[in-house]
Amino acid sequence: TQVDKGGHKHFMAKEIAEQPTVLGEAIRHYLPNDGTQICLPGGDLDFSKVKRLVMVACGTASYACLTAKYWFEQIAGIPVEVDVASEFRYREPPITEGTVALFVSQSGETADTLAALRYCSGKADRIVSVINVPESSIARESDLALPILAGAEIGVASTKAFTCQLSVLLILALKAAQDRGQLGAEELNQHLCDLRALPGLINQAIGSESKISQVAAKLAETRDILFLGRGRMFPLALEGALKLKEISYIHAEAYASGELKHGPIALIDQHVPVVVLAPHDELYDKSISNMQEVMARAGKVLLITDAKGLKDGAEGTWDTIQMPQVSDILSPILYAIPAQLLAYHTAVAKGTDVDQPRNLAKSVTVE
Ligand code: G6P
Repeated sequence: TQVDKGGHKHFMAKEIAEQPTVLGEAIRHYLPNDGTQICLPGGDLDFSKVKRLVMVACGTASYACLTAKYWFEQIAGIPVEVDVASEFRYREPPITEGTVALFVSQSGETADTLAALRYCSGKADRIVSVINVPESSIARESDLALPILAGAEIGVASTKAFTCQLSVLLILALKAAQDRGQLGAEELNQHLCDLRALPGLINQAIGSESKISQVAAKLAETRDILFLGRGRMFPLALEGALKLKEISYIHAEAYASGELKHGPIALIDQHVPVVVLAPHDELYDKSISNMQEVMARAGKVLLITDAKGLKDGAEGTWDTIQMPQVSDILSPILYAIPAQLLAYHTAVAKGTDVDQPRNLAKSVTVE
């Protein structure tokens, strides 16, 4: 089928805008009917006896895995190891009894991820994949392939596939928690209810686009940008930096906020904008104190937070972007939107080829 830009200037813009719709579809697929129960159409996966989860992917998909590690460990109590496929496949990691191996790939054809899957075949208890293309090699070689239902993604920089991967992984983590008796019925219900409301919040986040494009026009002037996040916001900081460097060619790096003191603070001066991803959650105060360390060295902080976060922490920042209030576990999915829009509008301001950035391929099928 012909895929067009649907009135948008770039596929990436279209794919960002599609997120409320495709996320809604993905969520309904795994929470069918009235949405109060988790179903895995196409085969069950019982987490009650799982001892360890090994998650392997490349690029943006690997950051979806890293985010999911926080969910699986905190909500379901399952130890998780995350690795990039190119490292995993040559390290000969021991796959111990009770291990489920989970591979995340938009295309389902990434050479390193497929090789990592083949390494685990016959060793892991189960080979599970989270993919966008059901007829792909990774899907076919898995015991269970879970679709993310994002629809065709054309822009080289992944956007809607990332948030759909996150949604499916979160649903899996909730299922794991349920299987292991780690979540009461009421708590689970609340999480599912929050998930069903997520597409609406994503829509609201997209509503900040014009504000974000103003900030992006300022970012386009800079040479280096730092992204900081803590807890579940750390993988998203990595994704925000990746997105920005891929399409705007601005040097961007991400650090766990707590690592600031262990190196990157040496880079801070008035020329380096620092993007701080900090919803008003249990780690907010820690993020704000890191942010203040940046400002004390004349660093320009762009704070992305919610209304409560702005009330308590906006003073002295270079600029701010306000997100709607969201439940803690969902924040990495919601905050992916400003990260994507920031990268997109910075690239547009610089006039780069957003959908076909230099030197990059949509799918890396050779090593
Ligand atoms: C390439 C793409 C990225 C993608 C990565 C993994 O680098 O440019 O957008 O995240 O491959 O691809 P996959 O299809 O396995 O998710």
